[in-house]
Amino acid sequence: MSQTSPVPANSIQHSKDPLRFIDVDHVHFYVGNAKQAAFFYAFCFGFEIEQVSDLTTGSRESASYLLTQGNIRLLLTSGLHAEHPASQEVAHFGDGIKDVAFTVDDAVAAYEQALANGAQSAYEPREVSDEHGTVLSAGIKTFGRVVHSFVSRTGDYTLDRVKHFGLFGPRFKKMGQLGVNDYNRANPCGLFYVDHCVGNVEMGQMDNWVNWYSDVLQFKLFKHFDDQDISTEYSALMSKVLDSGRELIKIPINEPAEGLRKSQIQEYLDWHDHTPGIQHLALLTSDAIDSVAQLRHRGVDFLSIPDTYYDRVWDRVGEIREDTDKVRELRLLADRDDQGYLLQIFTKPLQDRPTLFFEIICRRGSQSFGKGNFKALFESLEIEQERRGNL
Ligand code: FE2
Repeated sequence: MSQTSPVPANSIQHSKDPLRFIDVDHVHFYVGNAKQAAFFYAFCFGFEIEQVSDLTTGSRESASYLLTQGNIRLLLTSGLHAEHPASQEVAHFGDGIKDVAFTVDDAVAAYEQALANGAQSAYEPREVSDEHGTVLSAGIKTFGRVVHSFVSRTGDYTLDRVKHFGLFGPRFKKMGQLGVNDYNRANPCGLFYVDHCVGNVEMGQMDNWVNWYSDVLQFKLFKHFDDQDISTEYSALMSKVLDSGRELIKIPINEPAEGLRKSQIQEYLDWHDHTPGIQHLALLTSDAIDSVAQLRHRGVDFLSIPDTYYDRVWDRVGEIREDTDKVRELRLLADRDDQGYLLQIFTKPLQDRPTLFFEIICRRGSQSFGKGNFKALFESLEIEQERRGNL
């Protein structure tokens, strides 16, 4: 039997740097129907539906599915009754991301250090354990409805074991044989890493959250970003990028800016219960052509890019290793900075509300975010906003 218990704050030895992140432990979605969402993300994006925790494994409050691909772990959770936080949040926000969780050496020490640095608690340390090991987690509040959990693992539940098909924690079990998993193994989509995760906050709040990440989690303002290019008449947003260090994850923060038409960030907030949240996850591939061909074949709905974009893009970007005809055919966007180039593409919203979407990104040296594509991209986004009656 597994058990959950609060953890006394002084029970754990503190390591030297408690906020040293080992990895992104998982990205936790709250969704209306986790069983169905698991198939959507598996079929459209190639994730393996690897494990489940539900009534059959003794989870009486919620059902969760662990989806994996490369080093990406998505946890999809639905409440099993109206009072469960996942049910309540879905009622307010629709499906979306609740938690970007980091693996640390000691979740209690990380949590206490973050509180000492000025964070507010989202939930106190709690330990779930059984005869195979323990998963210890504690959470702090970041912008809007979003939480960062710190997770430390022992026994059979260490992240290394999880990465090699070990169980995610107590009350999880492996899925049985599934056709969609067999199909994905034979037809991989090639996504392997969470490159960045973007937050949308209210107008005037971006710098507060930039300071928060710097003070609380010791993130650094990313040097390669050029402030001068972030607000155009098309973009109507401001953005600053925070870097966790150790090449782990970057977190850009957007805020709406005044423009001729309604900011895409304001549209997000309007449909997200006027609450900040995560706008997109960027998933890394090492072969954009193969990945995006696979995703298109599976019916993923991407933002459309006009033909005229390809008239001039190669003057700006120069030579690339990929076949430019294929780049055009797949409607990939390209950009270059002083370190190299990147290819990227953006899905339309992943649910009915114009909130969360995915970006697929392939980096060939470039460490930036495709600012050369802002104009083309925002023109395309405005067409979508107009279709939704939100301009
Ligand atoms: Fe992005």
